[in-house]
Amino acid sequence: MVHRLSGSFAMVILANFAATLACDVNLEALFEPYMSPGTLIAEANDANFSDVASPRWSEWNSPTWTGAIKPETVQDLQNIVRIASAHNISFMATNGGHGTSIIYGTVTGVDINLENFDTIKVDLENNHLIVGAGVKLGNITEPLYNAGKAVPRGNSPCVGMIGATVGGGIGFETGLYGLSIDALESVRLVTAKGDLITVSDNQHPDLMWAIRGAGANFGIITEATFRMSDQPNNGNAVVGSFIYNSSRTLDVFEELQTLDDILPAELGVQLGISYDRTTSESLLTVDMKHFGTWETFQPHWNTAIRLGYTSATVKNVTLVELFANLDGPCQSGVYINGGTVGLGRTDPQTMQEVFEEMTEFYKNYPGYEGETLFQRYANNKTLETPLSTAVYPWRDTKTFWLHENIYTEPALEEPSIRLLLSLREKLQATSGFSEPHIYINYAYGDEGPEGWWGKANLAKLRKLKAKWDPKNLFGHGTPIFS
Ligand SMILES: Cc1cc2nc3c(=O)[nH]c(=O)nc-3n(C[C@H](O)[C@H](O)[C@H](O)COP(=O)(O)OP(=O)(O)OC[C@H]3O[C@@H](n4cnc5c(N)ncnc54)[C@H](O)[C@@H]3O)c2cc1C
Ligand SMILES: *[C@@H]1O[C@H](CO)[C@@H](O)[C@H](O)[C@H]1NC(C)=O
Ligand SMILES: *[C@@H]1O[C@H](CO)[C@@H](O)[C@H](O)[C@H]1NC(C)=O
Ligand SMILES: *[C@@H]1O[C@H](CO)[C@@H](O)[C@H](O)[C@H]1NC(C)=O
Ligand SMILES: *[C@@H]1O[C@H](CO)[C@@H](O)[C@H](O)[C@H]1NC(C)=O
Ligand SMILES: *[C@@H]1O[C@H](CO)[C@@H](O)[C@H](O)[C@H]1NC(C)=O
Ligand SMILES: *[C@@H]1O[C@H](CO)[C@@H](O)[C@H](O)[C@H]1NC(C)=O
Repeated sequence: MVHRLSGSFAMVILANFAATLACDVNLEALFEPYMSPGTLIAEANDANFSDVASPRWSEWNSPTWTGAIKPETVQDLQNIVRIASAHNISFMATNGGHGTSIIYGTVTGVDINLENFDTIKVDLENNHLIVGAGVKLGNITEPLYNAGKAVPRGNSPCVGMIGATVGGGIGFETGLYGLSIDALESVRLVTAKGDLITVSDNQHPDLMWAIRGAGANFGIITEATFRMSDQPNNGNAVVGSFIYNSSRTLDVFEELQTLDDILPAELGVQLGISYDRTTSESLLTVDMKHFGTWETFQPHWNTAIRLGYTSATVKNVTLVELFANLDGPCQSGVYINGGTVGLGRTDPQTMQEVFEEMTEFYKNYPGYEGETLFQRYANNKTLETPLSTAVYPWRDTKTFWLHENIYTEPALEEPSIRLLLSLREKLQATSGFSEPHIYINYAYGDEGPEGWWGKANLAKLRKLKAKWDPKNLFGHGTPIFS
């Protein structure tokens, strides 16, 4: 009965409809008859709710879940969308739980946990990596390494692979391979009608354009197929981490500026401003990931020495080690909020002002543990893919600024958000862009669709939304009409 959708299915939905109010739904009664046995369902107040819902990375402005469903099969997922749609039950499909912004805090509905769709296939014959909706970035590292292959990908192991991809997908290998969406060849998508369709440049090409940057808004992707490249330097890399104190920061920012047009593709750089509470000083950490040999790293190391670091570690690593050691274990339930703006040029003076404003803030608020990151990946490769292939509009971004406020005292909420907005305004002013370039996956949430997808794309994007998701079932965290 469950596996064949027929007239009786529609009749059950209609029969139940009158009796169902959005605020007063028994999820098990409504969904369970149409689910396979392995599907888990929990009401928000069930003791075992957290076994069913996805973990959330940050508690700040998190959605209010009215329940959770963890489907076992794609057919279950299709039925969930159909039933929820027929009963006007709001939901959001989640995987890594790393989506964060002020808008997520306004979301109310059922969490659809995609974790069970955790298959990974390396198809050497067709040169494809095929990942399911439950796959995290950390899960693809070893299979790719073992096959000698790579795809452009985000860094953080606990982030959802598809979640990161549908906003663009950036990481240390962006210089070499471009964005995740540039390698995304096709997806399997559960649509608002509950249909399962394939979307690619040949099948529904306009929808494919929209999925490459606004992919949370058009359905639930069950599986994504990426084109692979050969991995760099036989899977070996050199990582260098260099720490500078306040006497050297301006020199470091000026050095970064000299690389604006010539940063090598194989060198991913992240600059992080943080504070050492034992020595009471702000620090600038420069992390370099060099997808090349020890010998070819030497010039970068020499530059780091010339700039006068206070401490350094330089290591040979495999790509497995490189991606495994970026974060600690998967965190959930932390309290972090953040924001971003994209930079088209390095302005050393502005970056120095950011360093100073952060320092002042750390001193004024002893409980504050935030940090600010500048992720600098060469974008020449990203620019090789035409703008017209994707709704993602910001290929000219050279540096992704990512600010993270970390604190436990509620009193820090208001001042730390003022800090974030102040830094963002400063950086935007000298970014080289008149139109703010907001990477949607890092958004604070107040920038709106123009900031995320570009003014020029909105008419087409909204037309597609109206066609594919007229009841606005999907993408409540990143709304196209707002
Ligand atoms: C610590 C940290 C590190 C990060 N590092 C990077 C990085 O290196 N590179 C980068 O590009 N981004 C990075 N991000 C941003 C990250 O890509 C986004 O937050 C992304 O939305 C997270 O996806 P998720 O599955 O983990 O989160 P979720 O909260 O589970 O989902 C986020 C959004 O994606 C949608 N979504 C998830 N899966 C699907 C699917 N299968 N079909 C349709 N919609 C789906 C959800 O509905 C939701 O709207 C990072 C974020 C954090 C917090
Ligand atoms: C959760 O608990 C309820 C009642 O205690 C039970 O009916 C249900 O099967 C449990 N679900 C899971 C996923 O453990
Ligand atoms: C659906 O639910 C929303 C609130 O979740 C409500 O605003 C809307 O009016 C409802 N629509 C219908 C057709 O019941
Ligand atoms: C995928 O990664 C997550 C997060 O690190 C981990 O909990 C899970 O066990 C991994 N799954 C597989 C199949 O390796
Ligand atoms: C990247 O593109 C710029 C502008 O076209 C060019 O000047 C530069 O040499 C390129 N950099 C690399 C590393 O190829
Ligand atoms: C920075 O470090 C150097 C030594 O590495 C030290 O001489 C200098 O006093 C430090 N400057 C500040 C401002 O702490
Ligand atoms: C890294 O590997 C190179 C050889 O490729 C070797 O010369 C060098 O000493 C190694 N460095 C460290 C720190 O092990």
